[in-house]
Amino acid sequence: MASKFQAPRGTFDVLPAQARARAVVERVAAELFARAGYEPIQTPIFEDTDLFERGVGKSTDIVRKEMFSFEDKGERSLTLRPEGTAPVARAYLEHGMHKLAQPVKLCYGGPFFRHERPQAGRYRQFHQLGAEAIGTDSPLADAEVIMLLADLLGELGVPGVELRLGSLGSLEARREYLEELRSHLRKNKRKLSADVRERIDLNPLRAFDADDEGTREVMASAPMLVDQLAGEDAEHFAEVRALLDAAGIDYTIDGSLVRGIDYYTRTIFTFDCDVLGAQSELGGGGRYDGLIEQLGGPSTPAVGWACGIERILLALNEEVAAPGRDAFVAIAAEGQRQRAMALTRELRRAGLSAEVDLAGRGLKGQLKHADRLGARQVLILESDGSAQLRDMESGEQRSADTANLVAELTGGGA
Ligand code: HAM
Repeated sequence: MASKFQAPRGTFDVLPAQARARAVVERVAAELFARAGYEPIQTPIFEDTDLFERGVGKSTDIVRKEMFSFEDKGERSLTLRPEGTAPVARAYLEHGMHKLAQPVKLCYGGPFFRHERPQAGRYRQFHQLGAEAIGTDSPLADAEVIMLLADLLGELGVPGVELRLGSLGSLEARREYLEELRSHLRKNKRKLSADVRERIDLNPLRAFDADDEGTREVMASAPMLVDQLAGEDAEHFAEVRALLDAAGIDYTIDGSLVRGIDYYTRTIFTFDCDVLGAQSELGGGGRYDGLIEQLGGPSTPAVGWACGIERILLALNEEVAAPGRDAFVAIAAEGQRQRAMALTRELRRAGLSAEVDLAGRGLKGQLKHADRLGARQVLILESDGSAQLRDMESGEQRSADTANLVAELTGGGA
């Protein structure tokens, strides 16, 4: 029954079997966030384009190539959100959350949009879960958010997870380093890809992310910022590491780690998964001590992360068992339809999952359908008003008292 209409390129429908697996991920995350005191926030699906240009950074791929931007009827440029941190920072400022006890700990989830080349694990509409701790520069906050993501992936049972940790230093310290890196890149200009060459001035760190051979060769001998951290930057990084060590969280330090967004300062991290292919990053984040000031607010340090729900599901192989049904109510004679509806409703109100045949199947067809749904018991309503209860696993059948139906089904009967 194909029609000429299909979900747009890079988007997908979430069918019931996948929706179930998603719901599990979202529930585990919501419970974890609640236990750690991260409160939910929701921001609009679109924002002023300017928010992302300033927040995410004009030199990033996201802003240069990947935003779904459009003009509204008032000729204002709006953009479907490509990420959640700039919007959350905007909301923090807009609602004066700096007046609350700091840090303000927030969590969110929902759809995000990037015009990327679609492939497994990379979509144009995808879904993130994220957490942000805004208003503290303590390394304890870095460690807390990292532990939160480690625990989320752990509780979900995601296999083959690896944490990589790096530090970009504070903005001031980075300036000096970036000059050094630029001069290394300029010296080796001929070997670099056109894309990296073009951005030597604007965004030299991006060169660490390139996958062409020439650039990789140049980067192998590039100076590393983690080797040069000094003063408070070095202390901060050392304490984050000590906190993770004490918590028994394994990580590797990666001096070449960079992220595709400009707001990061000091700690950055990614969680990769070795069972995923090219899109192996499950989630990542870091500190963004300059972002809120960049958006016109007071200097406000913050740290957080986001992870991709689709990538988590890919890593889990979407293996979340179908829930089955507690009961299926089968109508053996037409005259029993009203009674069947009433009993099904009674079961649902008592908290059991129950279905009734809505398709006019014969009794045999109904039993087959009940089996397909994974019903544990089938109540068969006979024409004389009696009822049989069939255990679908053992195939045993006995007469049932529908006046005490819930007790009959849950084994609490006489
Ligand atoms: P990000 O690394 O750009 O960070 O995205 C976070 C996660 O979203 C990625 O690790 C990946 O799992 C998922 N993701 C990104 N793009 C796609 C895509 N096209 N298709 C499928 N999944 C995707 C951020 O967005 C930051 N806001 C994270 C953050 C929060 N930093 C500080 N606080």
